[in-house]
Amino acid sequence: MPKIKIAPSILSADFKNLQKDINEIEKEADIAHVDVMDGKFVPPITFKAEDIKKIKTKLPLDVHLMVRHPSDFIDGFIDAGASIITIHEESDDNIKETIQKIKINGLKAGISINPPTPLEKIKPYLGDVDMVLVMSVNPGYSGQKFIPDVLSKVKELRELKPELDIEIDGGINKDNIGRAAKAGANIFVAGSAVFGQKDRIKAIRGLRKAAKE
Ligand code: DX5
Ligand code: ZN
Repeated sequence: MPKIKIAPSILSADFKNLQKDINEIEKEADIAHVDVMDGKFVPPITFKAEDIKKIKTKLPLDVHLMVRHPSDFIDGFIDAGASIITIHEESDDNIKETIQKIKINGLKAGISINPPTPLEKIKPYLGDVDMVLVMSVNPGYSGQKFIPDVLSKVKELRELKPELDIEIDGGINKDNIGRAAKAGANIFVAGSAVFGQKDRIKAIRGLRKAAKE
């Protein structure tokens, strides 16, 4: 099973002090998760590539595109320093072509599915991607409640792909992270469970410990 990683979502950070918040988690986190929303695929509009380009961090940037046309966003986020770009199966672009567009530039590519989307929908792409992001809330907002039903998809995926990075995103906290890890997830996005806490380092350590238990 691949290494356990904690990926704080900067959607829950302070937008006015983004650099400061990222500096604070840098020593303990493994990845910085960047939630990009276009106001169409989901109602909110969040980070632009220019906002992310300004950030200085050693953490790999994990860009989660909750947008209707991910192919329009790829060049910008490559320029902004992304390490991995994840697109949604439910988006409107050609999935195979968009994954290739990411990989041809030397980045890792991920595919994501919303809670109602069956695993069958992404099976044709499993040979092409470096990561699958299983949404455990309906995308759009941080601070929502974890949907445990999605763990059956994580379990099936882990059985199919023992070495694949499986990321779980939405409502992750220290009470459910252990269950998600047992189902087979190894990368854990956490917004409110990190940035909503007073001691963020302690929060990340607590999540990591609970994932390993
Ligand atoms: C939801 C985003 C998540 C969100 C996680 O649309 O994709 O990454 O920021 O936040 P929490 O952990 O608070 O659910
Ligand atoms: Zn996300």
